[in-house]
Amino acid sequence: MTADNPAIAPQTDTPTDAPPDDLLAKIRAQFDRAPYPRIALDTLPPPPKLYYHSVQTAFYRRDQRVVDPAGMDILDVGCGSGFGTMALAIANPGATVVGADLSPASVDLAQKRLGHHGLGDRAEFVTLSLEELAQLGRQFDYINCDELLYLQPDPAASLAAMGAVLKPHGIIRANLHSRHQRSEYFKAQQIASMLGLLDDNPGEFEVEAFSDLFDALRDDCRLKARTWNKDNREQEEKMMMNFLFQGDRGFTVPDLFDMLGAADLEFVSMINWQGWNLLELFKDQEELPAFLAMGLDMAEEADKLALYELLHFEHRLIDFWCSHPDAGDRDWTPVEEWEPEDWEATVVHLHPQLHTDEFRQALEAAALDGKNLNMNDHLPFPWGLATVSSAMAGLLAPLFSGPKSFEDLVAAGRRSRPVDPVTLDPMGPDQAMAPLRYLLREFVKAGYVFVEPMA
Ligand SMILES: C[S@@+](CC[C@H](N)C(=O)[O-])C[C@H]1O[C@@H](n2cnc3c(N)ncnc32)[C@H](O)[C@@H]1O
Repeated sequence: MTADNPAIAPQTDTPTDAPPDDLLAKIRAQFDRAPYPRIALDTLPPPPKLYYHSVQTAFYRRDQRVVDPAGMDILDVGCGSGFGTMALAIANPGATVVGADLSPASVDLAQKRLGHHGLGDRAEFVTLSLEELAQLGRQFDYINCDELLYLQPDPAASLAAMGAVLKPHGIIRANLHSRHQRSEYFKAQQIASMLGLLDDNPGEFEVEAFSDLFDALRDDCRLKARTWNKDNREQEEKMMMNFLFQGDRGFTVPDLFDMLGAADLEFVSMINWQGWNLLELFKDQEELPAFLAMGLDMAEEADKLALYELLHFEHRLIDFWCSHPDAGDRDWTPVEEWEPEDWEATVVHLHPQLHTDEFRQALEAAALDGKNLNMNDHLPFPWGLATVSSAMAGLLAPLFSGPKSFEDLVAAGRRSRPVDPVTLDPMGPDQAMAPLRYLLREFVKAGYVFVEPMA
């Protein structure tokens, strides 16, 4: 299942036929007029945004190792109004963040945002296009490129430009719009282009004109039924980023792998890997059609992801981490596949986004009151483990004072529950280990803890 895709930016149902320089000028004008995202200066990033902007999430995903962000150099390319740059600075204590954007108005706002939150000394900003990154004369441990790659005339060249300023062990996070999930918006953009609404930088007039057209259509007109609601007219940012988006294009998973090959980079993982699990699409994972079960055993990751997006095109973004080929240590066994003895010399860390007073209090309350702990109250992932039983919650309490060896967690579990609740016999080490291993396996899968072999 490989892509036969020489051009790499293959599809386009979309209206971009402007020459690259012209296109770049249009993109700059669009974001100078309205820096993105339009989020009030005092708004703080929500926990899931901090989670995915934590370099620890990315490096653990690649290397099964926990890194210290302090001293790291992070680049936020296409930083826009700086909401993500702020998330990078907060989620990675001690790291320095450089925000770069083509649009001076966006850079200005981003700088104000970080200053407003007292993060000015952690961040630097430059007005610079992605193609000019080498001018910075610096190399980065982590590069964030959010909501930008799909706008570029040659996304593989853009990835290569980021690769050129990435340290040998570094990681890039970038994303592409999904051709499948967004197909209706691409049709709408084509209509806007046919009507001349994308000839210049769209503004109020174009929003009104496009809204007049859609309001006038019958409600059962297929495109209207699938994309339109009467409030769109009032939501300029939504209109600009969907119906009237300049240069927007859609891609597929095979396109992504072709681009990575052309840029000499290697796929690490989807950033929301929990939501790309092909097996989760089946009613009964133990009862797959035989030909499929055999095929999946042999399939590459790229093929499984491609199949996922064809079957279930739910994600707007193909949002991924990549790095230089052979960067990091990929020679490790996933925790799901560990044998009991693999747990013996391991260290368990709580994800930094769960290292909060609220989570500690909720966990302790669950352990004491016998109530389930709802993880969605703390890190709301649609695919995460929703609840943790009271007995299990107590097993995690020692992690608030710092990482613990698996052995220490087992010992703490035996002290807090010295007897088997059914037989009342003293709790043996094996009885204490089994539930802890189960909980940690599920928590690693959901991304709530890191378990790493001792160095
Ligand atoms: C959709 S916004 C994303 C902003 C931010 N990364 C976020 O996700 O919140 C895209 C940003 O990329 C910038 N941009 C587009 N093409 C660029 C390029 N070639 N070099 C640098 N910045 C670019 C735009 O000016 C805009 O601020």
